Amino acid sequence: MMTFDNADELHKIKKWHANPQMVLRELTDDSRSLCRFGVKFGAHPEVTRSLLQLAKDLDIEVVGVSFHVGSGCFDASAFHDAVVTARKVFDEAAELGMHLEMLDLGGGYPGADCSTGITFAQIADVLRPALASMFPATRIIAEPGRYFVSNAYTLAVNVHARRVVEAKDQEAAKSFMYYINEGLYSSFNCLYFDHAHVSPKVLVKDGVYVHGQEVGNGETHACSIWGPTCDSMDVITRDGQLPELDVGDWLYFDAMGAYTVAAASTFNGFRRCHVIWTNTEAHRLLI
Ligand SMILES: Cc1ncc(COP(=O)(O)O)c(C=O)c1O
Repeated sequence: MMTFDNADELHKIKKWHANPQMVLRELTDDSRSLCRFGVKFGAHPEVTRSLLQLAKDLDIEVVGVSFHVGSGCFDASAFHDAVVTARKVFDEAAELGMHLEMLDLGGGYPGADCSTGITFAQIADVLRPALASMFPATRIIAEPGRYFVSNAYTLAVNVHARRVVEAKDQEAAKSFMYYINEGLYSSFNCLYFDHAHVSPKVLVKDGVYVHGQEVGNGETHACSIWGPTCDSMDVITRDGQLPELDVGDWLYFDAMGAYTVAAASTFNGFRRCHVIWTNTEAHRLLI
């Protein structure tokens, strides 16, 4: 099964595949998502009928419709609108004598941290009645990505260098620059590609495992956190607040499973991070 959203794709498939099953990917209004896909993928509603007609003329079987509202969707109504558009495509196909049997709801669901402000349950509340009324007898599938993996990974990083930035005057406080072993070119590529916001917490301080605990007396200092490469763009945060750290301490970042290590590079010769799979309670995990 393959998706298509333009005529060239159908002609290519016709040339190279004997018996394809095709899914028409519709264009959605992705303005309610952090990562927008519409500029690259999706057939505009004005051309879906002619694409279906072309598939029919080429004797290519179209089995369904798919959409992706964009990743990191923050408004559940985007799913409703996409289902309405899909219904229109199903009706066009029926008018052409084609029977579509599958609707693919794509991705766009939040990670378990719900950083986009909506929950999976809120999206389900929108989708359930829409599907019941518009697609009562259609096979429904989806392609959740972030939803499954976001909370599956915690990223632990080591502070391998620091620099104290002395206060400019007596009223200002000193701040710190910390350099860690993961950056924008590795797991934190999500800051650039995925519009992510990350939040560091202290994992190991002076050799003591402090996950989930208050460090010191709760005193914090302004800090910036930098990745390991030569590039000054390689910065994780410029306005952090953390207890004073030393070289050798560890930080951790929750919910780092989606669009992170999968797209990490080895730029500047730094290896990709090591993944440790565990079902051990966090407080028992030894680094
Ligand atoms: C075709 C397709 N399906 C599913 C996904 C997963 O999306 P998400 O992580 O937003 O659920 C993507 C992500 O790019 C995609 O391109």
